[in-house]
Amino acid sequence: MKRTHTCGQLNEKNIGKKVLLQGWVAKRRDHGNLIFIDLRDRYGITQVVFNPKDSKDAHKEAEKLGKEFVVQIEGKVSKRPGGTENKDISTGKVELNATSLEILNKAETPLPIELDKHLLAGEDQRLKYRFLDLRRPELQKKIVLRHRLVKSFRDYFDKQKFVEIETPILAKSTPEGARDYLVPSRVQPGKFFALPQSPQLFKQILMVSGFDRYMQIVKCFRDEDLRADRQPEFTQVDLEMSFVEPEDIYELIEGAMKQVFKDTLGVAVKTPFPKLSFEEAMNTYGSDKPDTRFELKLVDVTEEMKGTEFGIFNSTIKSGGSIKALKVEKGCEKFSKKDVDKLTEVAKLYKAKGLMSVWVKGKEIESQIAKFLPEKTVKALLDKTKAKRNDLILIVADKWETACNSIGYVRLAVAAKLDLIDKSKYNFLWVVDFPLLEWNDDEQRYTAMHHPFTSPLDSDLEFLDSAPEKAKAKAYDIVLNGSEIGGGSIRIHRGDVQEKMFKALGISKAEAESKFGFLLSAFKYGAPPHGGIALGLDRIATIMTDSDSIREVIAFPKNKASISLMDNAPSEVSEKQLKELSLKLDIEKAPETKK
Ligand code: AMO
Repeated sequence: MKRTHTCGQLNEKNIGKKVLLQGWVAKRRDHGNLIFIDLRDRYGITQVVFNPKDSKDAHKEAEKLGKEFVVQIEGKVSKRPGGTENKDISTGKVELNATSLEILNKAETPLPIELDKHLLAGEDQRLKYRFLDLRRPELQKKIVLRHRLVKSFRDYFDKQKFVEIETPILAKSTPEGARDYLVPSRVQPGKFFALPQSPQLFKQILMVSGFDRYMQIVKCFRDEDLRADRQPEFTQVDLEMSFVEPEDIYELIEGAMKQVFKDTLGVAVKTPFPKLSFEEAMNTYGSDKPDTRFELKLVDVTEEMKGTEFGIFNSTIKSGGSIKALKVEKGCEKFSKKDVDKLTEVAKLYKAKGLMSVWVKGKEIESQIAKFLPEKTVKALLDKTKAKRNDLILIVADKWETACNSIGYVRLAVAAKLDLIDKSKYNFLWVVDFPLLEWNDDEQRYTAMHHPFTSPLDSDLEFLDSAPEKAKAKAYDIVLNGSEIGGGSIRIHRGDVQEKMFKALGISKAEAESKFGFLLSAFKYGAPPHGGIALGLDRIATIMTDSDSIREVIAFPKNKASISLMDNAPSEVSEKQLKELSLKLDIEKAPETKK
């Protein structure tokens, strides 16, 4: 027996027709004489009525039905009685009067998790029973949207003459900056593959091989601390092109965004996207991935605070740091002392030493630092921030980057508290002109801000020898609603520049040879100028589906402790397997899994 329709298909045109449906019992309501069920499949829900007048047997069988039983029902489509229509579902004007019912499979009761959105279990419980969780229409919609998104990206890049090429998963360590997931080799005892953090080196090699336009929708693996927008394995829409400038990449990606937003959401995206330098983004929004759906811009008050007697401000100014202020106008009267304390905690979480609050009362101020601020300084602060009576000014003093970053997170917390974010907006922008290198205090050396193959700006080449911290990169990030949804760069393709870069990074010739020898060797035989970008597919899907976490758009995600709770990976392996791999564990017994 085959279904004649799906559970989302029947409508008034089918009234009077005999049909056969198959699906899951989402709900059962027993009114004695009449039994109603909601029959669900991927396509929707159909109401089925068991009336002994239509079939005594079917009605009797329906008494046994429990939630999530799999059933097959034959019946006749009828119009729902007036007043009982359901506008929320596509089949809401009709119902099925069952003439036969076959239970194809039962489901144990009670279910380990309820599927009703009002009775949702905690996330870990849902991840453990993901097979049930994935039956929820809300989640199915997100997974289907993701499918459309992937298809739309592929179609777009295919039209633009990109070739999708698979690159190895069992590979050599790539320099993206996170820890590698390692896979021991059995045939080469003591040697390991690394799962790729990205296909970076391979896509550059493909340019050397003349492929010109490469793309791949590809899994990447990074062993890093997880956040709401990070997974240990995630998917990139990865690209590389030969003979390009950054503008070519901007135009291509803007076109891609236009296309995928139209195809998946029916939303028209306006291009070109605004561009902000890294410095402007940090100074204005306190973030290299600014959320521009609301204003609340930072104000630099380092100059204005020069007259202060407040110790932290003074020492910050002396050591070349910055003092950043955030003026909150509307709604700040709602802030209690406790709310301000919470904002201080946010600032401290991002390494600020504290957060000063200044309430504006006309020309006077109310603040823990009021006694340290001479009248002239107060005036300068109020003038620079254009503050009015009852506004609240929040201030952080620290090293430039810490001051910007910490108050940037305070900015986000204020926006959330005051509900300032217009959720209907999709605000894209490019952040450009990143520093090429950053100083790593732990390692006491420069590290690449992006990766060691990122080209410096042509004008900054000379800094590589003299003042590496001044060199800017031909690198760009694409940001959507405060989330970094992609990043890339124009690469170094000349041996002499690459050598300078390694030198600035403190990477010896021998180390470069052992880590990236194959790329350097390829570069000796005609490497074209090239560049690319990788988009974070999961992050884009998270934003498109308005989800709270990246885990909502991945069918089988890991939880916050990097565990796949459904299949319990990672798990121990047998002594025999370890032996085959020539491995010995340096622990007596595997410790208990950290949840
Ligand atoms: P990058 O490291 O910036 O660049 O990564 C590109 C994009 O991938 C997404 N992303 C992640 N998404 C989910 N979970 C994670 N753990 C995670 N890490 C990164 C982000 C990010 O912007 N090879 C370079 C690209 C290039 O230069 O062409 C690269 O991987 O959205």
